[in-house]
Amino acid sequence: MKLKTDFLWGGAVAANQCEGAYLEDQKGLSPMDILPSAQYGRKEAMYHPELALKKDYGYYPSHGAIDFYHRYKEDLALMEELGIKAFRTSISWARIFPEGEGEPNEAGLQFYDNLFDECKKRHMEPVVTICHFDTPLALTKKYGGWENRVLINLYLNYCSLLFKRFGKKVKYWITFNEINMITHIPFFGGGMLTEDIENVSQIAYQAAHHQLVASALAVKMAHECKEELLVGCMLAAGSFYPYSCNPQDVWEAVEKNQESYLFIDVQVRGKYPSYAQRIWKEKRVSLKMEAGDEEILRCNPVDYIAFSYYSSRLAGVSPEISGKTADGNAIHTLRNPHLDITPWGRQIDPLGLRITMNDLYDRYQKPLFIVENGLGAADKIESDGTINDDYRIAYTRDHIEAMKAAVEDGVDCLGYLSWSCIDLVSAGTGEMEKRYGFIYVDRDNNGNGTLERRKKKSFYWYKKVIESNGEMMD
Ligand code: BG6
Repeated sequence: MKLKTDFLWGGAVAANQCEGAYLEDQKGLSPMDILPSAQYGRKEAMYHPELALKKDYGYYPSHGAIDFYHRYKEDLALMEELGIKAFRTSISWARIFPEGEGEPNEAGLQFYDNLFDECKKRHMEPVVTICHFDTPLALTKKYGGWENRVLINLYLNYCSLLFKRFGKKVKYWITFNEINMITHIPFFGGGMLTEDIENVSQIAYQAAHHQLVASALAVKMAHECKEELLVGCMLAAGSFYPYSCNPQDVWEAVEKNQESYLFIDVQVRGKYPSYAQRIWKEKRVSLKMEAGDEEILRCNPVDYIAFSYYSSRLAGVSPEISGKTADGNAIHTLRNPHLDITPWGRQIDPLGLRITMNDLYDRYQKPLFIVENGLGAADKIESDGTINDDYRIAYTRDHIEAMKAAVEDGVDCLGYLSWSCIDLVSAGTGEMEKRYGFIYVDRDNNGNGTLERRKKKSFYWYKKVIESNGEMMD
């Protein structure tokens, strides 16, 4: 079984990590705009945004980012040269509604009109995330973020405008980036402040419910607007393995996987799974639902399952492993002794992608779409100007091979989008020098640099992969 001829090879970015121009053309503030980079305490600010709201950190990486807002034409020209067929980005809600509600901002809408036109001109299918960790800060301040049910209608108001305005240009939509992240970083996922909250799970699962209802209604709205529109959910995927065959370790892994599947169960199967009751009980969550919510969820399943995959995860209770953790990008994981690890602590597990794809497809039988996979690494410019990122080629090759194996296993996969196609600000650490792109951007962790773009060795390699539809991998 080969990849389909219309397989969507491409790359992904997010507005708040690449656009910059953070106040230009009347844009309002987004959560990322108040977060500093790693060296000034990003982790603390992510988990205690109420502190970040009061503090002046001096330098904020999202404010200028890679200046995609002004350079998108140049960047999309490079991506066309790379041969990509699909370009995933997100729309900044605060560019369209600076206050999250009220009158839309025509300048913001015009920017995305121009961007999607440019994608079409360069033969790229835009894949658009409606909310990528990007609930306008004004909605955090006024309503407390997604814990407040009022956000459902504000989001739908925003969606309605997007589908009407861009429905002719954008076929693939994603309602929320990594929806399961809301229980791990409530500020990113739901624009929520958690200071003084005795039980954060209570507000996180309530906010998640509001997003699930909003997502289902957005699916309905998109289909009513234009039948051909395809709307996906999006999971921060990576199956949990049990640390050992000790049944307690196995059970721990089952529970951890369910915490992520819960979201996709609702978005694909249209109802909360039976184990949701157990999770809520354990976490002392009492969920408020309104009459009609269950029917909304039941009647509006998503069209496809988008997911990010960076690594598998590991769970267990055996005493000898306590404290041996790795970086799971906010989702807690134990260190797997069988896997290599990146300098940023991410475990490298290409076979885990095949396992994850099989798990997801067995469970849901809906088309999968890999919308993020890539290696964050430090790159060096050689004296002759080249960047020989063989490590990125190796990582990407191994993961694409694993994806192809999953397709051989019978998994229906729409496409593979690398995170990223171009260097950009890291969401987790705010760094530029944790680079993900095939295109280098001259900007460092303090915002210095010319912003010049430069093709890495991986650029030429990925180009060949795309041209051969994944056949030429050397
Ligand atoms: C995903 C996010 O979790 O991981 C992206 O959707 C993010 O926004 C990516 O950039 C890589 O993580 P990081 O923290 O290295 O940027």
